Parts: sequence; C-alpha cells; structure tokens
Amino acid sequence: MIEYRVGNDLDLDAVLELYRDSTLGERRPIHDRELFAAMIAQANLIIAAWDGDRLVGISRSVTDFAAVTYLADLAVSESHQRQGIGVELMRRTQEASGPKAQIILLAAPKAVEYYPRVGFTQHPSAWVLKPGETVG
Ligand SMILES: CC(C)(COP(=O)(O)OP(=O)(O)OC[C@H]1O[C@@H](n2cnc3c(N)ncnc32)[C@H](O)[C@@H]1OP(=O)(O)O)[C@@H](O)C(=O)NCCC(=O)NCCS
Repeated sequence: MIEYRVGNDLDLDAVLELYRDSTLGERRPIHDRELFAAMIAQANLIIAAWDGDRLVGISRSVTDFAAVTYLADLAVSESHQRQGIGVELMRRTQEASGPKAQIILLAAPKAVEYYPRVGFTQHPSAWVLKPGETVG
C-alpha cells in the first residue's frame, strides 16, 4: 500500500537516498547538502510516496497554483518503479496545481520515452540558461 503526502517536511538523508536509489541522483547535486536542502525547502509543491516508513517516490515542483507548474524532479526508487507511482505522483501534482495549470518539465535522458508514454506532448521550443551563463 503506497501512501501519498504533500509537503516539504522531509528528512534530507531520506530524500538523498531516494535520489540515489532512483538513479536521478546521477543528475542532481546530491553531494551539495546545502543546495539540496534548499531544493527541498523552497520548492512549493512536493508530493512524496511512502511505503510504510520508507520514502519511495517524489514529485518536486515550483508552481503558482494557477497557470503553470514546473515539475523539477520526479523520482521513484528502483525497487518500486513501474508500479504506477510516477503516474500517480504526477496526477496528484496536476490536481494540486489547479484545473488551468499546465505542467512543464525537462526529461532526464533515462525518461525521454516515459513522458510521451504517459500523456505529455513534446515542446519544440524549450530554452535553458545554465548557471554562469549570462543574458544579453
Ligand atoms: C521515470 C520514473 C519517474 C517513472 O516512474 P515509475 O513509477 O517507474 O513509472 P510508472 O509506473 O508510473 O510508469 C507508467 C508507464 O510508463 C512506463 N515506464 C516507466 N518508466 C519508463 C521509462 N524510463 N521509459 C519508458 N517507459 C517507462 C511503465 O512501464 C508504465 O507503462 P505501463 O502502464 O504500460 O506498464 C522512474 O522510473 C524513475 O525515477 N526513473 C529514474 C529517474 C528519472 O529519470 N526521473 C525522471 C526525471 S525527469
């Protein structure tokens, strides 16, 4: 039985373990605890999936709860993948965002086949300004 809970009150080490377990940790700054703590504290929509007292999934977003939700991270522990947890986390993220909000994300290489499969449309014009790059 998986339980889903909304909120940022998560133990940093449990979150880091989940990012490692899911493999998303390969692409996130899991060795920078301070930055990671801010990622958890400052995101304004986090939905966590729990199997008993074990954190097994997370959807971490920045949203205005009106027009747009940026889904920054979606991760499910390897032991719990392909059981519908990722879809359920996104369904709840969409529901919490409000009926007029669109969900926007950048897929990690391992998940490029996943998002079209679960209903997302590829956007031909996504743009990124990386840290250290300047505008203008
Ligand atoms: C990608 C991820 C979040 C998917 O979560 P999940 O709970 O395993 O996926 P679901 O069970 O909701 O899968 C729904 C469907 O997509 C399929 N699917 C799951 N992962 C997939 C993948 N990487 N590529 C293609 N299809 C995938 C499932 O088989 C399932 O299909 P079915 O309904 O026909 O059985 C999870 O596998 C993960 O954490 N991966 C590593 C980290 C990562 O890449 N995260 C994405 C960051 S953008």
